[in-house]
Amino acid sequence: MTSNPQPFPSNADPLTDPDWWRQAAVYQVYPRSFSDSNGDGLGDLQGVTAKVPYLSALGVDAVWLSPFYPSALADGGYDVDDYRDVDPRLGTLAHFDDMAAALHGAGIKLIVDIVPNHSSNRHAWFREALDSPRGSAARERYIFRDGTGPDGAQPPSDWQSVFGGSAWEQVPDGQWYLHLFAPEQPDFNWDNRAVKDEFLATLRFWSDRGVDGFRIDVAHALAKDLSEPLPSSALLAAEGDGTDGAHAFWDRNEVHDIYTEWRALFNEYTPPRTAVAEAWVHASRRGRYASPEGLGQAFNFDLLQADFDAARFRTVITDNLVQAAETGASSTWVLSNHDVVRHATRYGLPATPADSAKGQDGKAWVLAGGPEEQLDRAAGLRRARAATLLMLALPGSAYLYQGEELGLHEVAAIPDADRQDPAFFRNAGVEKGRDGCRVPLPWTPEEPSFGFGTGAPHLPQPEWFGPAAVSLQDADTDSTLNFYRRALELRGKRQGAEELAWVPSAASVLHFTRPGGWQSITNFGTAAVALPAGTVLHTSAPLEGGLLPPDTTVWLG
Ligand code: GLC
Repeated sequence: MTSNPQPFPSNADPLTDPDWWRQAAVYQVYPRSFSDSNGDGLGDLQGVTAKVPYLSALGVDAVWLSPFYPSALADGGYDVDDYRDVDPRLGTLAHFDDMAAALHGAGIKLIVDIVPNHSSNRHAWFREALDSPRGSAARERYIFRDGTGPDGAQPPSDWQSVFGGSAWEQVPDGQWYLHLFAPEQPDFNWDNRAVKDEFLATLRFWSDRGVDGFRIDVAHALAKDLSEPLPSSALLAAEGDGTDGAHAFWDRNEVHDIYTEWRALFNEYTPPRTAVAEAWVHASRRGRYASPEGLGQAFNFDLLQADFDAARFRTVITDNLVQAAETGASSTWVLSNHDVVRHATRYGLPATPADSAKGQDGKAWVLAGGPEEQLDRAAGLRRARAATLLMLALPGSAYLYQGEELGLHEVAAIPDADRQDPAFFRNAGVEKGRDGCRVPLPWTPEEPSFGFGTGAPHLPQPEWFGPAAVSLQDADTDSTLNFYRRALELRGKRQGAEELAWVPSAASVLHFTRPGGWQSITNFGTAAVALPAGTVLHTSAPLEGGLLPPDTTVWLG
């Protein structure tokens, strides 16, 4: 099977090459949990700058920085008070510039997160809307409606927010505003020209500051049809399979008019600014977001949702390479991010019915798998390393989430009193939420905070973070950290055209070649398998008597 045969110019200058993103290894930094330079328990931008040598040694091509903007942290920073500033607890714009310069100096690109579906309820515009009368221009920038029932005391519709509870919140004068996520995240009205212009100005602000690309949060929710009467939740759920672009708020066709304007702005820069959509949409509609006239790339979360299963992985890979070839974008591969249970843990829990747990609402954290007492930590990590090595051999870009290079598991044992995720609070604790993958990283084995900073970390770290610390793994040639470094180094040298050819194999084995004779073989089965001739470049676990053991990937050259 051949995907888009666009050659990757391996000798191109990574800082000016317009195609740098096509096969980039992108490392997601969740800044409040990465490295704390001032001891306040929250990671910060100076902490990121201090770790640029670490990122460079890891071998990543780009960093995607989750929100670092001023925020009350009602949703981990995805509730933005001001889109053109830095949270004072994380630093200043000057610290941002220092960080960008340090990354660029190391040849690493910088992608920032843009959250356009909603602001925080502390944003100047929302405060103005609350202080302004019904029907005012200030309210028109958000989605205000009168309630239902005799005195308007009932919400305008029965819609539920993604985090649980009503999607409408009442304000003192009786009107209600829409929030698809937490009440602290009022949705913008994207029919309003002022909203459109404001985001264009924000994209220009960061592009002018040297940002190379953007990750677009909930990119599929901006356009909404809120004509009356609002449909009930039952009616929305009954209306088709999400592929007609006519749902009241998810994945409407006209959302792409917004991205056409953004693309024109991105293309004013050299190289053009890139964007990747976080769009939990039907696979057949992902290409609209990834088109070169639109954002240019869209996350493919299919691998992330697949159990560790050869047939499932094969289908996901084949389908996504076909899609990539159709759109002209390169595919994106993701196994972990800040919204889902870490892949080492997912693969160590009893399998869940494939794809059953995910909808357009992006509630991937319900992929929690089976009960924690059934977690097989060693098996989970072994499979995670095998899946990672397979992923890093695929054509397209690979997104890595901080801490996966340490083989970290999800932290399940967080006391309720320490939890922060609104998904936990708005579901009466039934969903544990996403704090377990957001615990501050361990850099050294020493407490307090395992080298994260000098103060108490904002989420408690478990004792088992000590042995997983970077300094210990650095010194251990067999560590997961050194396994990632070697994989990224080899991958960087071997990226050629975006092509993959399957090699016939047993049903429980995935074997493919890449241009230049690079091969990846993964054994998903229960018995060791023989290998073809070739030089062993890398393995996710040692070979056994020349055979590829179960739950292992090998690269041959
Ligand atoms: C995206 C983010 C998630 C956030 C949500 C609302 O899905 O990845 O962390 O809670 O959007 O902004």
